Amino acid sequence: MSQINLDHEAELDTLASERVQVNFGELYDPTTNEACGMDNPNAGKYCPFHEDQIAILEANHRFICACAGTGGGKTVVGAYWTVFQIQKAIQKHGKCHGMIIAPTYKVLSRATTPTFIDACQHTEFEGNFKNHTGYFESKSKYILPNNWGVIWCQGADNPGGLEGGQFDFVWFDEGGQGKKATYEAITGRTGAKQGPVLVTTTPYGLGALYNEWYKHYLAGNDDYFFRIWDSVKNPAYPQEEFERARSRLSPEKFQERYRGQFMRLEGLVYQTFHKTRISMSTEQILDMISSREGKLYGGMDFGWNDPFAANIGFLDFETDVLTIFWERYKSQTPIEEHADALPKTIAGKSITWAADSARPDLIRKLKKGGHNIKKAKKHYKGTSVSAIINGILMMGSRIHSNRLRVVENMCPALCAESEVYRYPEKDEEVIGDKPIDMDNHCMDDVRYMITEIDWKKSA
Ligand SMILES: Nc1ncnc2c1ncn2[C@@H]1O[C@H](COP(=O)(O)OP(=O)(O)OP(=O)(O)O)[C@@H](O)[C@H]1O
Ligand SMILES: [Mg+2]
Repeated sequence: MSQINLDHEAELDTLASERVQVNFGELYDPTTNEACGMDNPNAGKYCPFHEDQIAILEANHRFICACAGTGGGKTVVGAYWTVFQIQKAIQKHGKCHGMIIAPTYKVLSRATTPTFIDACQHTEFEGNFKNHTGYFESKSKYILPNNWGVIWCQGADNPGGLEGGQFDFVWFDEGGQGKKATYEAITGRTGAKQGPVLVTTTPYGLGALYNEWYKHYLAGNDDYFFRIWDSVKNPAYPQEEFERARSRLSPEKFQERYRGQFMRLEGLVYQTFHKTRISMSTEQILDMISSREGKLYGGMDFGWNDPFAANIGFLDFETDVLTIFWERYKSQTPIEEHADALPKTIAGKSITWAADSARPDLIRKLKKGGHNIKKAKKHYKGTSVSAIINGILMMGSRIHSNRLRVVENMCPALCAESEVYRYPEKDEEVIGDKPIDMDNHCMDDVRYMITEIDWKKSA
């Protein structure tokens, strides 16, 4: 079997201006510009990458992001970037150990891995795909030929699956909705080899990708590279569809979905939360707590695969301003470990905790550990929905009247969740006027804290 040259620059030079009746990635004969089979000695892969895709393939940065409109050619460029990384690793070490992820195993299996398998086809890296879908985890692997190594393919939703081991590279398809913990895990797993990480995605609000990567890129950090492009940069994407979307969607939604631009999400529960953000040093915080009349409040939301989230705030009695300055946000950790990590006093003042009432067993354990903790109030008797809505109103009222401040350098998870915690859109099948039950761990713990503080006033 002959093998296909994967030199993308050569492909671009010879193909960019030509009209070839072949689909991307298919075999063709460059002398006739027609589709052909592997038996044709001239056979090549038709890969006419556009300039933004080329920029991604050529980037030498540690953290690379292809941020583009839907259908812009993100997954294809990710798949070929992966093949080039395999080639580089084998040239360098004779072995390759890589990872491909997507937000869920479903997304991974639908487009990401099939595109990668196609990209490997007819190259010297064509191997065997082994699907492993079990009850506890869904992990697949692509076994490279010649004992060259394995590319692991998994969903970021695989509990604990992203921990442990070192990789030559990671490709994260649809990483825009990725959580902070996933970004930390993939950075850690490429740390020893300083391997590159590629994210291919449409942006999604000002979430983890924005906070963990894009801000560094904007600040001029050379480890980060972003390339942003429109859906129609892909010549295969219909211009009419692009125009139809422009006329149908709000300008913000269009910018995000079809132009790959970072936008603040519509339908955020706390639209102006970003105005509460301030920066404070540890000394300034301790000084505030010890010198002002006031009280410390904590909020806590339990989770195992979802993170356990806790925040602490200082309520100033004179101004009624609540300053949230402490955070714990950690998955898969026993309650005893959390109990040890949670402070009981700060600057001589004790903390009153309000916690998720669904777990009285854990509340009991924390009480035994010496914490002053109670069930979060469900003001308005009745459903949990009314408790949520009521809590949101109280928190919204604090934001509106400048009585909430969040120390952003101490509470990154709270700030990140506030940028993605939102109400369902019209076409999403969620009932009621409750926010989507996602990205709400710090959002819930702070809601418990504020309900504890403000419920009497609003009763
Ligand atoms: N430079 C290109 N020239 C021609 N066709 C391309 C090019 N890049 C991608 N395509 C084709 O366009 C289609 C969409 O590409 P791809 O799936 O990579 O886009 P995407 O941005 O990941 O889309 P989605 O938003 O649906 O995830 C595929 O059929 C792909 O083969
Ligand atoms: Mg895609």
